[in-house]
Amino acid sequence: MTAKRLALAAVCAWLVAGAPAGGAKAAEPLAQAVPCLPCHSVAGMLKKPKVPSILGQDTKYLIHQITAFQRQFAPNSSSFLRLERKHPVMSQEAPKVEHEDIALVAEYFASQACVNAWQLDGNRTAPLPNPLLANRCFLCHGQGGRTTHAFVPSLAGQRQEYLRVQLVAFRDSMAEGPSRPGRYRAHRMMTRQGEKLTDAQIDELSAYFSSQRCR
Ligand code: HEC
Ligand code: HEC
Repeated sequence: MTAKRLALAAVCAWLVAGAPAGGAKAAEPLAQAVPCLPCHSVAGMLKKPKVPSILGQDTKYLIHQITAFQRQFAPNSSSFLRLERKHPVMSQEAPKVEHEDIALVAEYFASQACVNAWQLDGNRTAPLPNPLLANRCFLCHGQGGRTTHAFVPSLAGQRQEYLRVQLVAFRDSMAEGPSRPGRYRAHRMMTRQGEKLTDAQIDELSAYFSSQRCR
């Protein structure tokens, strides 16, 4: 084992154990969240580079995403909104959560300590300086990408490649297309944000937000 892998393993063990105080036994994971853990636990994410971190993410945002992968309707102030997001893996996984358990599962992941991209992917650098382009993202996603709004995800410390893929998806969301079979993501606010971004700008924004500390 290299020093880097050892360090990652230590971080991982600490996070999985939830850093119990005074040697207390780590809490059992929520039963309804167990099917998610092979991918969304720290140990799972270390093995799977395409899995985003949902630990410490906004609860209402997570409820919306699970609902969207299940292609259900969510209340939208005066009416009901049909949420839809397609992904070959998540479209299979999300239906494993019963409708009445969605909030419970979302709260479970939201209550965990967040992890930084560098803890999963290495390449630790100082947080990158804020590109001018990121200022308009702060309006909704919070300063440095640490959100304070319900239904808006934190971007700070999220994995770079995941952020890049999502920004491309919002920009190109009208085309499911043969190059994106089984994948679809659109959102009123973000699709408008994404469509003006070039590939180079998407790369710059993904690198910036991913380099920020998640808390
Ligand atoms: C086999 C691996 C795997 C399993 C198991 C899995 N997921 Fe995922 N999950 C993924 C991948 C990959 C993505 C990224 C999808 C994309 O690129 O759009 C994802 C994305 C998500 C997102 C969106 C995150 C965001 O920032 O928008 C949520 C929420 C989520 N998963 C919840 C769950 C829940 C709840 C379960 C258990 C019922 C689960 N996942 C099981 C692989 C997995
Ligand atoms: C007007 C508010 C608003 C602005 C401005 C905005 N966003 Fe968003 N963004 C959102 C909302 C709301 C979502 C959640 C979309 C959903 O529910 O699918 C989101 C989702 C995202 C996601 C997906 C995160 C995940 O975990 O899957 C990324 C990446 C993102 N935004 C990046 C950006 C960037 C980069 C900018 C600046 C160029 C930006 N956003 C500007 C509101 C905004």
